[in-house]
Amino acid sequence: MKFFVDTAIADDIRELNEYGLLDGVTTNPSLVAKSGRDFKEVVGEICQIVDGPVSAEVAAMDFDGMMAEGRILADIADNVVVKLPLTLDGLKACRRMRADGIRTNVTLCFSANQALLAAKAGASYISPFLGRLDDINLEGMELIREIRVIYDNYGFDTEILAASIRNGNHVKEAAIAGADVATIPPAVIRGLASHVLTDKGLDQFVRDWQATGQSIR
Ligand code: E4P
Repeated sequence: MKFFVDTAIADDIRELNEYGLLDGVTTNPSLVAKSGRDFKEVVGEICQIVDGPVSAEVAAMDFDGMMAEGRILADIADNVVVKLPLTLDGLKACRRMRADGIRTNVTLCFSANQALLAAKAGASYISPFLGRLDDINLEGMELIREIRVIYDNYGFDTEILAASIRNGNHVKEAAIAGADVATIPPAVIRGLASHVLTDKGLDQFVRDWQATGQSIR
């Protein structure tokens, strides 16, 4: 499963990229607002940090507006993926962008039928939002399982991008369910490396090694 980081904070992206953990980045209007940066400028900077796909979302709600904004975003760098909302106009823009050779990420997906439409429209990625479904007492992970079955039944090439990930369990379950990608907040990615027994074991090893009085270098 590929790892994208879900943030518009360039310093976080730079740090995680240096660990070799990143395959791409997703942003959304809320994350851009949180960064306090100019949208196109920050997308350009992120695209220079990572080689993989960087999702940048249109603000327009209508087809013509989405096409105009999508072309501007796609011109920022070769690795920009245009993020489109899962609406009828968004699907129409998705179909046109596919024909124009622009990669798309169809976002705010909350049902298997929406995911089916996005695949039929030629989306490069579909973003089912797990955490927001869990927030209203539905099972977000069940949606990933349903989409996996549907896409495999028909051989769609749209990648399942598990989004709205809130914790390490979401990451593990999305991998088990066969998501192609998970987009994960920076703090959750860092947390995946920790385990209380790793810390405890290391403590013991450090103490025992010091007691030997040896040095490797
Ligand atoms: C996906 O691309 C979205 O940016 C993101 O995963 C939304 O997550 P949230 O529900 O935590 O805002």
